[in-house]
Amino acid sequence: MVSITLLFAATLTPALCCHWLNHDYHHLNSESITQLERMGGGAISMSKSLLPFPYILYERMERAEVSTQLVFIRDNMELILGLYRHDNLSSASWDPVSTEHFLVSIGRQRDEISSCVSVDLRADCRLRRYYNKLRRRTLSLTGGSVASWEFIRTETKHHLDQMQMLVNDMLTAASGRRPTDAPQLQIDSVSTSAPC
Ligand SMILES: *[C@@H]1O[C@H](CO)[C@@H](O)[C@H](O)[C@H]1NC(C)=O
Repeated sequence: MVSITLLFAATLTPALCCHWLNHDYHHLNSESITQLERMGGGAISMSKSLLPFPYILYERMERAEVSTQLVFIRDNMELILGLYRHDNLSSASWDPVSTEHFLVSIGRQRDEISSCVSVDLRADCRLRRYYNKLRRRTLSLTGGSVASWEFIRTETKHHLDQMQMLVNDMLTAASGRRPTDAPQLQIDSVSTSAPC
């Protein structure tokens, strides 16, 4: 049993490029979710849906190449951060310390993943379009109302959960491959995503 675990560990690290993804991602993503809950004073309730959740983007990512998956997660983190870079963030009346910790932890997730993917690669336009629409229907429409901030918080939680599942799938897929297959998993500069 021990040797199997060691074998997996040995094949996972080069395959996924990010040692971090293997060892620290889960912890940091959980920290982001904890802070996200804490800043609103507890668990996140489902707020009224202002936009359908883009499950289709995550379904597509399940079958994507590792490099594409990593770029998707990196850009997703950056786009989440973009939502919160808003003049009227204070009108959400969230706990400022938890909010700050949350934003720092999301920034760290983005930075850590950035260190193992090419800066030239960008996520599919559809992800960007979704976030633009989300912003238009909430913050742009209301100037940053409490309800729109709560919806953003609910959506953020959903994205963090979905990314956690995606990473779990990536790790499972990598551990299921034989070591001789590993070179095919190396991150390379090939990308199928269209430029935005
Ligand atoms: C912030 O709120 C004020 C007052 O509601 C509004 O006039 C302003 O446009 C909002 N700013 C942004 C960036 O939405």
